[in-house]
Amino acid sequence: MAENDVDLDRIDAAGYPAFLAAFDEVFGQSHADDEVERSKRTAEFDRFLAARRAGQVVGTAGAFSFDISLPWAPAAGCAGMTMVSVRADHRRRGLLTRMMSQLLDDAEQRGEPFAALWASEGPIYGRYGFGPGIPTGTIRIERDHARFRSETVMGEVELVDAEEAAHRFPAIHDAARRHRHGTMSRNDAWWARELADPPERRGGAGAKRYAIIGDRGNDRGYAIHRLRPRWDEGVPRGTVEVQELVATDADAHRSLWRFVIDTDLASVTTAGSLPVDDPIAVLLEDPVRNRPSLGWPVYLRLVDLPAAVMSRGYRTDDTLTLRVHDRFRPRNDGTWRVAVVDGVASCEAVGGPADLELDATSLATIALGGVRVTSLAAAGVVTASTPDAVPRLERLLATDVAPWHGSMF
Ligand SMILES: CC(C)(COP(=O)(O)OP(=O)(O)OC[C@H]1O[C@@H](n2cnc3c(N)ncnc32)[C@H](O)[C@@H]1OP(=O)(O)O)[C@@H](O)C(=O)NCCC(=O)NCCS
Repeated sequence: MAENDVDLDRIDAAGYPAFLAAFDEVFGQSHADDEVERSKRTAEFDRFLAARRAGQVVGTAGAFSFDISLPWAPAAGCAGMTMVSVRADHRRRGLLTRMMSQLLDDAEQRGEPFAALWASEGPIYGRYGFGPGIPTGTIRIERDHARFRSETVMGEVELVDAEEAAHRFPAIHDAARRHRHGTMSRNDAWWARELADPPERRGGAGAKRYAIIGDRGNDRGYAIHRLRPRWDEGVPRGTVEVQELVATDADAHRSLWRFVIDTDLASVTTAGSLPVDDPIAVLLEDPVRNRPSLGWPVYLRLVDLPAAVMSRGYRTDDTLTLRVHDRFRPRNDGTWRVAVVDGVASCEAVGGPADLELDATSLATIALGGVRVTSLAAAGVVTASTPDAVPRLERLLATDVAPWHGSMF
């Protein structure tokens, strides 16, 4: 098949069901009609591409217009890449490469310094300059071993319905992400997706529970969770599944965790996507019975290298030159002098030798302080011309908290 047999076009509202059906077919899944409608509300048709051959959709990819919270700086534009699929009989002919190239060009034209995605398989996206820059953590907590090291005065946690959650949770999320970089913005349509709970998606578990702590006007945290019941010879051994637990202060965080762990009829609580430095891991007295581990990372890409470097804030001043190899976005390829003065970076292309050499994937991996430069240097993918260059870049990029984004897009 010649490459130009396949056209790449933006879709419109009428084309969305066929687009989604093609994506679903590749992933071996389906969407009920009301889910199609809900996902359609978050779709951005001018950023969704369908690869068509003879009128049939054979490939899909798209981007959402998020902004990403940043350390010591206002949030910046981030293209949330999504719905990537290529039909089995058209794979390995360069279709994803074409779609990704077009989506990244579009992100740059829109002035978005960053792009991000969740990868179905790790090896796919490194070639496009994406690196696992926002690690996430998971935890499995045994209720019988869930004593906290610092017991909290339990704040009053209340269960509300989805409608009230939709009114009150967004402000908490917005406040929390100001202190947690890496987190994408959520509009009303996204909140509807987060809170939605179609019975056919519960897989045998109970309905979502929406817990909140605080008072209207001073809400301090929420937890979206559900009970998956299990009875073991008449003994209740259910699992609480935490979808998201977000708090703006330490007491609210502790109270919400205590609340979800102490769910009646449950013996275990699991959470699938936490910040890697979430205090719950060190709050529990018994880290042996309640072992945290790593979850899926969010992949990040610097779309416009100098704009991305300059968009975040820094706590250390220094000047370093980086030789960055970026085959997929040649405008980023070159030697960049990054000078941070009073926490504000400038970034300009220069000639001459560099202090450090790395590729676009590695730069994306370390850009928000989520992965240590020293680890990548030890892995041999960041190299330095002087012994102090690696620790200096490590200090420059370090942040107070780990980056985090918890929900799929
Ligand atoms: C992943 C997928 C979209 C790739 O599409 P594609 O059109 O075959 O990709 P391309 O032909 O542009 O491949 C580009 C390169 O990526 C490589 N690649 C593609 N998928 C890969 C994978 N799963 N693992 C490792 N490498 C992969 C190809 O081998 C090719 O390498 P090359 O440039 O060295 O030859 C397609 O296989 C697919 O739909 N998979 C199932 C759904 C899925 O996982 N989607 C991603 C959601 S995040």
